[in-house]
Amino acid sequence: MVTETVTLQAVEKVFPNGVRGLAPVDLNIRQGELVTLIGPSGCGKSTLLKLIASLHAPTAGSVSWWGGDFSRVGSEGRRLSFVFQDPTLMPWSNVTTNVRLPLDLDGVPRAEAEARVLPALEQVGLSHAATRFPAQLSGGMRMRVSIARALVTKPDLLLMDEPFGALDEFTRNRLDEDMARLCARDGLTTIFVTHSLYEAAFLSSRVIVMAASPGRIYAEYAIDPGMPRDENFRLSNEFAAICRDLNALLSEVSHLDHRTEQAQ
Ligand SMILES: Nc1ncnc2c1ncn2[C@@H]1O[C@H](COP(=O)(O)OP(=O)(O)OP(=O)(O)O)[C@@H](O)[C@H]1O
Ligand SMILES: [Mg+2]
Repeated sequence: MVTETVTLQAVEKVFPNGVRGLAPVDLNIRQGELVTLIGPSGCGKSTLLKLIASLHAPTAGSVSWWGGDFSRVGSEGRRLSFVFQDPTLMPWSNVTTNVRLPLDLDGVPRAEAEARVLPALEQVGLSHAATRFPAQLSGGMRMRVSIARALVTKPDLLLMDEPFGALDEFTRNRLDEDMARLCARDGLTTIFVTHSLYEAAFLSSRVIVMAASPGRIYAEYAIDPGMPRDENFRLSNEFAAICRDLNALLSEVSHLDHRTEQAQ
């Protein structure tokens, strides 16, 4: 049984202006993992995600998707979905039409597409808002629509770039709990970028701590995937210990950054 989804081997990214976005990175994402990427601004988290989504080509090294080339991913029925910080909904379309968009773009017949929208809305607790327009939704609800739009294609890999960064803490916690439940229930393989060590501690089965200048992986931190990710976990001693460990790693990374700045 293939348990790998995406594998990066010695992947580097140098942008056309000479900026070294990523130094060689090796990373292996296994089926069903929820991996978070955390690290200081500019350490290459978004660059790494875009390389995984094939939105950027690596300057060196290789990215393999289910053991093959990206061009084979779609042809073999594998799907990636990308959720950004901004929900980017069409303001003139209601929730149903927004969620249906990727199916419409794929040419899925209307009746079949409509039938798939409702379960996706149910997954994010929004079936009651199917006919509302984006302007009639709260920020948290708009983000739920964006997640439903990502889930409606039944992705094999879900990529999320600071999806809840603009939300208040209470809404973010609720969405984190929903994400944890969805990922655990459906075995959804997810790579999630965050600035919040608390969010990383709550969600992840593995945290990748990155360092900057150049962007690279500094440490990996595993969290027991069997840990129940609910409000009780957030209040537990285990959670506090994980947050302390992650805080220590991030503090090491920021000291590295400081030393690099002083040397320049
Ligand atoms: N298209 C680009 N052209 C040139 N440099 C780029 C480009 N995209 C990113 N960079 C640079 O690459 C580095 C990594 O950027 P990236 O956006 O991946 O960081 P990040 O970790 O996502 O940061 P943040 O937490 O602020 O979102 C930064 O130095 C950035 O300025
Ligand atoms: Mg970013």
